[in-house]
Formats: sequence, C-alpha cells, structure tokens
Amino acid sequence: MPVKVFLNEDEIPRQWYNLAADLPTPLQPPLGPDGNPITPDMLAPVFPMNLIEQEVSQERWIDIPEEILEILYRWRPSPLHRAVYLEKALDTPAKIYYKNESVSPPGSHKPNTAVAQAWYNKQFGIKKITTETGAGQWGSALSFACSILGLECKVYMVRISFDQKPFRKTMMQTWGGTCVASPSDQTQAGRDILAKIPDTPGSLGIAISEAIEEAVTDKSGSTRYALGSVLNHVLLHQTIIGLEAKKQLQKIGEKKVDVVIGCAGGGSNFAGLAFPFVNDKINGAQIDIIPVEPTSCPTMTRAPFVYDHGDVAKMTPLLPMHSLGHNFIPPPIHAGGLRYHGLAPLLSQAIVEGLLTPQSIHQNECYESAVLFARTEGIICAPETSHAIASVIREAKKAKEEGKEKVILFNFSGHGLMDLTGYEKFFSGGLMDYALPEEEIQKSLKSIEGLPKPQTLKSGKW
Ligand SMILES: Cc1ncc(COP(=O)(O)O)c(C=O)c1O
Repeated sequence: MPVKVFLNEDEIPRQWYNLAADLPTPLQPPLGPDGNPITPDMLAPVFPMNLIEQEVSQERWIDIPEEILEILYRWRPSPLHRAVYLEKALDTPAKIYYKNESVSPPGSHKPNTAVAQAWYNKQFGIKKITTETGAGQWGSALSFACSILGLECKVYMVRISFDQKPFRKTMMQTWGGTCVASPSDQTQAGRDILAKIPDTPGSLGIAISEAIEEAVTDKSGSTRYALGSVLNHVLLHQTIIGLEAKKQLQKIGEKKVDVVIGCAGGGSNFAGLAFPFVNDKINGAQIDIIPVEPTSCPTMTRAPFVYDHGDVAKMTPLLPMHSLGHNFIPPPIHAGGLRYHGLAPLLSQAIVEGLLTPQSIHQNECYESAVLFARTEGIICAPETSHAIASVIREAKKAKEEGKEKVILFNFSGHGLMDLTGYEKFFSGGLMDYALPEEEIQKSLKSIEGLPKPQTLKSGKW
C-alpha cells in the first residue's frame, strides 16, 4: 500500500484559486474609520499596490509568477501521505490522508505566502518588511523569504511565545531577520499597552499594531507590512496546498473526499487546503469541511459575525469577520498561532453561508492526539496542527461506529520541533484546559458595540 504520493516539479499548479469569484453571496467590503468602504489607495502606505490588487481581485484563477515557483520548488510540491499507521492504531475503516506542509525550510505552510509577498514587495521597490508572529512560524517564514530575496525583515513576536519558544528567534536571526518581543518599547502602540498592563502575555492583535506602526512611520516610504494570515491574498497564495492535494488524490485513484479538516487561527492553512474543495461543494459535492480552533479562543464557534479591527490599536480597516473583539487577549495556550481574536473574512462568509462546520477542542485532547500521531506516523506536530489531528481522530472513530470507509483529508500545517515546551508541560500534567466564560466574551465584545454591522448574507443552499 503506498504511504506517500509525490508530484513532479512540472506538475505543480501554475495558478492560485480565488474563492471570492465563486462564493454564492458576496464578501462585504472593508470599511474605513468613517464607516465607508475603503479604496485601494487607502491601503497603499501599508501594502504594495500589486498585492492590494490581488486583495480585491474577483478573478477565479491568478497566475503564479515563474520566479515564485522557482523558489517554491525548494520543497514543493509537498508530499501527500496516507496515515496507515494511525488508521491501524484507531482500527478505523476510514482512509486518512495528510498534506505534509512541515517539509518547508521553516517547518510550516507559512512560506507559501511569505515567498509570494516578499517577491511582490520587491517588484514594487520595497526594501524592508515588518510583521507580527504568534508561535514564530510566520516570522521565521518571512525571514527565510526575505533572505532569499534580499530584503530586510523585522518581526514583532507575541511575548508569551517569545518566552516559550526561544529558538524561533534564533531561526529568524539565522535568516537575517530581527525579532523583538511584543509589546515592545519600540512603538507607541507597544508603549501604551505596557503602561496599562506591564506583565501582559501579549496578543497577535497588539503585535500587528506595532508592525503596522513601524511600516507606516518610515519616512523613506520603502517599508511595508506583511500579514501571515486573514487577508484574501494570503489565503489565495495558500491554495497551492489544496490544488496539489487534488492532483495527488487523483493520482492515487481516490475519486471522492468525504471530510476535509484543518486548524484555523486566522484561517490561512485551512483555507489553503479547503478552498478548492469548497468549490466542489458549491458545485454539488457532499463534503464535510471542518475548521478547528481551541476552546479557549472560540472565534468561529462562539463569536458573532461583525465588523471589527484586525488589531488592538485599530490601525487596520474594519473587516467583516467572526471576532471576539480586538481587545481580546486569549489565555496563554501553547498553540500561539491560534490565539487570534478574528478570522479571515472569506472563511467567515463561508461559515455564514453554512459551507463549513467549525469545531473547538481543548488543548489536552489535542496533545493526546499529537502524541498518538507521533507514536504512529512518526512526526511531532506543531501545537496548532494538533487541533486538526484531534478532529481527524474524532472523525475516524465516528467512521468506525458508522461502519463507513470515509476518505478524510487534513492539513499537517507544521512540525513542532521548536514547540517542545508544550509537550513537556503535557507530559508533566501541567497543561490547563480553559473554557472561556460567556461573561468574558461579552465583556470583550463591548469594545465593538458602536461599530457598523455587516449584513448576514446567506443563499440558504447549505
Ligand atoms: C503550524 C501552524 N499551523 C497553523 C497556524 C495558524 O495560522 P493559520 O490559521 O493562518 O493557518 C500557524 C500560525 O502560526 C502555524 O504556525
């Protein structure tokens, strides 16, 4: 039985897939401070215009420039594995496949968009890119991409992850990037937070504010900001994952997928795998498509669909998304990349449509699943990825109860070799499961009470 499926370099997808072209109900526009839709030139101090054009594009297919493909060939196409050893351990009739994004040099899916964003910035004449990072995967991916393309890179890393994962900073340094803990004293946004909460664990929302502030206050005009998730163009770049997976499943003779699963922080690895299958679902296929989040940061399962800022200092436009409120500081769980108050607008709209079935899982169940995966398939996963694996195990057990030979596909978004502190805590019994009290969510949502509200657009087909 084959346990891996490869594609040759000449079989790599040459176009990205844009779900915005196919959503049955349209995405609502981002809004400016006055409540009116923003125009592309309002984003120009933050992003280069070539990426802004992608952000607002309604084209279904967008060509991947040859020079980007040449960099991606260093590790792409990534392998599709059949998890035969996990299947055996679970004694399930389900067939479990995973797309292994941990084979990239920084160890996750993040370089798929880091390379593309660095390349478009360079084309536009930009010399330096600033960004935030949660677990450090995105910061290292952008440092890696900038080193290949000869750009400067500055990363604001959420304080709790900076302390939990010190070697991520060394990885960024090795690729020539600079990494500081956020909140820092290097920006007004950081100083304001430190004055209010000196011992804060930080959040992605705070780190984003700091990185944007540094980009827009550079008077030379040669610095821009890059985001590792959430935005349409980031999700677009990740669709190479799902497009490759489709070809690989075809190659191995699978005609149909029953369940597609990925963890979701801002939503980029999930969308990258799932969107080509969401397209199939829109066209009539029966597929359960499941994004998974931590119970302690329940953006998809408990937060409303609202207009909110992507960051604490309200520097981003208002985005139509599921949000716990931009001031929300999630409990310090080990899946740092899933500690985000918001969710990609494209994913949020797909949830409103009923195309997706979000789940939330506690971190102890996730670590139990990660350990089982490591002891069967061999790879130690990132804490973020463990959420997808926990959901896969639930689905495989369900398939056994139902006696169905389901095909389950999931995204193995990254390895956890820089995240072993979380495993250590798990083994010593020191990991907490945080169920967020409803009052805390309601308190956080007070910060967005006066903001405009999006419409709930739903075709009613799902
Ligand atoms: C390995 C890994 N998986 C998943 C995520 C979550 O991000 P996203 O939802 O954008 O894929 C991260 C973010 O840091 C990550 O490092």
